[in-house]
Amino acid sequence: MSIINWKEELFPYKQATDELYIKFNSIKKEYIDLEQHSPIELVQTRVKTIGSILEKANRRDIPLSKIFENIEDIAGVRITCKFVEDIYKVVQLIRDRDGKDLVIKEEEDYINNTKSSGYRSYHITIKYEVITATGVKVIPCEIQIRTMAMNFWATIEHSLRYKYNGNMPEHLRKKLEACAEASFKLDTEMGTIREEIIETQKIIQKKDNLVYEILKNIQNLYYIGKMEEMNQFNREFIDLYQEGDIEKLYKFNNKLQVMANIYKIDHIQ
Ligand code: GTP
Ligand code: MG
Repeated sequence: MSIINWKEELFPYKQATDELYIKFNSIKKEYIDLEQHSPIELVQTRVKTIGSILEKANRRDIPLSKIFENIEDIAGVRITCKFVEDIYKVVQLIRDRDGKDLVIKEEEDYINNTKSSGYRSYHITIKYEVITATGVKVIPCEIQIRTMAMNFWATIEHSLRYKYNGNMPEHLRKKLEACAEASFKLDTEMGTIREEIIETQKIIQKKDNLVYEILKNIQNLYYIGKMEEMNQFNREFIDLYQEGDIEKLYKFNNKLQVMANIYKIDHIQ
């Protein structure tokens, strides 16, 4: 490979990260719709820029002809979780797909094996198959799974590392290491009240879903031209919402549902 056609080479990498983005977000949505705690809080993806691919090849003495073979994090997915426990739930979700829509190549647990910098995350390197216009391509991809606290630390440490370009002053290195420990202590403490936090979130989620349901039902009245009923229900809803009693909101929604049956409103919108 004398001249790299970057556009052509990188296209399937973008496709791979786009597909994985949709898949992990879909899992998150499924948990939310089922009013369960989602171990996935945030999904981010990126394809390495040409500049940073070349920089890594240079740093690792990788010849241009071996770039796509030897660099395994050109496609990257980062999954952020609320709790440490969630990380291992996500790991299991990925393991369950092994041999189905992805193949696991390597797992690195930098949580139980914290790096000397203080870095913590769980890394899974996978092979992911995409079908492009020019055929099937197997794309390596690095999935990093970490908590919000780990992510906060890693992004700050990364920018300082970048600033000092490998010559980070000793006092700063020590400080960052201490920060990593403090940050992990927060993760551990949060973990002890995980169940309580999840329960509270579920209640909020339940209410959100119910409000969404009510508004949809009220909107349906508008679609079938029942303006007077719509206005009346809307006013009633605003009062109940301000009152904040979830049981009353449930009853109200049941009433709306009965109304929908009378008018035979079936899945409008
Ligand atoms: P590199 O990507 O060159 O680091 O090679 P690697 O795949 O052998 O290393 P590793 O599995 O340790 O790390 C892969 C990725 O994890 C890196 O590209 C970073 O995004 C992240 N990472 C690893 N160690 C650190 C660290 O000490 N600090 C920060 N901020 N990120 C790290
Ligand atoms: Mg690695």
